[in-house]
Amino acid sequence: MNNYKEKFEKMRIAGNLAARTLDMLTEHIKEGISTDYIDKLGYEFIRDNGGYSAPQYYRGFTKSLCTSLNHVVCHGIPSNRILQNGDAINVDVTAIIENHYGDTSRMFCIGKTPIKLNNLINATYESMMRAIKILKPGAKLGDIGFEIQSFVEEKGFSVVRDFCGHGISTTFHESPNILHYGRKNTGIELKPGMTFTIEPMINAGKYNVKMLNDGWTAVTKDKSLSAQFEHTVGITENGYEIFTESAKGYSKPPYL
Ligand code: MF3
Ligand code: CO
Ligand code: CO
Repeated sequence: MNNYKEKFEKMRIAGNLAARTLDMLTEHIKEGISTDYIDKLGYEFIRDNGGYSAPQYYRGFTKSLCTSLNHVVCHGIPSNRILQNGDAINVDVTAIIENHYGDTSRMFCIGKTPIKLNNLINATYESMMRAIKILKPGAKLGDIGFEIQSFVEEKGFSVVRDFCGHGISTTFHESPNILHYGRKNTGIELKPGMTFTIEPMINAGKYNVKMLNDGWTAVTKDKSLSAQFEHTVGITENGYEIFTESAKGYSKPPYL
């Protein structure tokens, strides 16, 4: 891919808006607020900063971000559900600006969460970062999946199979699919200029998921807890760039 500098400049702007939205939300997400309130704050922040929330216009989703609580794996729909002590929630923000998409999610713990849950969240974050650190031209897609799967399975957790990361740039979801499980040295080779997400969903129990009747909410089949983080990244000449890093140090769980 020649001359991806302009594309990267726009991905930086889009990724940064998504990350700043999560930074802003970090200061509001606590016991007693509803997930609809998170949606409203996110919607207004993105709008006031010149962007659009991608989920609002995406296949009938209608809300502007996803809020996935406890055993919800992904695509939880904001509602009047009030956050309670001991909850863990993933907030997934996708902003469109400069005609490009920035997609990122983080976990937030409400009050005091169980140690087992904190361990799951830490392992999920760590698995994403391990996969990011091996990114460079010549590495293969299977290497990404291998990093994540080997790390979390060793701790007794499992990798969700039914959802994956995705190419992203001027469209929300494009090729290639980024599987979060796999074997080393398999799959297509990474090339400078590629942009995609890494967004492992890791379950405390089995990897199977079930869809709720709303057509969006995916939950663990065995009702075990699930965690997820997501970054949008780009492949450079000799490594990678993360477009969705927090400038405030909020990318990591607070208890790492
Ligand atoms: N942000 C999600 C992703 O990481 C997609 C959400 S689609 C929605 O790919 F419609 F559920 F918002
Ligand atoms: Co994504
Ligand atoms: Co996302």
